[in-house]
Amino acid sequence: MFRPLSLAAAVLLAAAPSAPPAGGLDASMKQMSEALKVLEKGVTAQNEAEALAELAKFESALIAAKSEVPDSAEKVDEKKRPAYVADYRKTLVATLKLALDAEVAIADHKYKDADSLIRNKLVAQKSAGHSKFKPEGK
Ligand code: HEM
Repeated sequence: MFRPLSLAAAVLLAAAPSAPPAGGLDASMKQMSEALKVLEKGVTAQNEAEALAELAKFESALIAAKSEVPDSAEKVDEKKRPAYVADYRKTLVATLKLALDAEVAIADHKYKDADSLIRNKLVAQKSAGHSKFKPEGK
């Protein structure tokens, strides 16, 4: 017999890992951007499951982006390139930590804390990462 999903089951499903996008760094960044747009509208008790699903999309795309090398690395002196790429990865790790903090806040039903992390800290990582690692005009 078909039974509707309980709220707990819906939340568990929403927090399940989301497939990383195919198509390299651009596709990963686009997926992060789309997820962040939804999340920036605000997390509430009513949209908690949807917010967790968007965070899962953001996180899986970020992990895929972290394994790429940005085009901007080509222009960096060969000797300095490993440190540059490490810095790129560390900036994305810091971004992932913030996304995970937001996930914990949602799990604790602290929606205002989640909103503040998303709207202030997570969004700020975009300009910080882009000013350093995104090639001009891209
Ligand atoms: C936190 C939220 C972030 C969002 C929403 C975001 C979004 C985007 C978008 C929409 C693009 C353009 C993709 C395209 O051309 O189709 C892009 C490109 C790029 N982003 Fe992000 N980004 C974020 C954070 C970061 C961080 C933290 C870094 C670096 C550590 C980074 C590095 C890059 C690079 C290198 C590109 C150029 C891609 C390429 O070379 O092809 N981004 N990002």
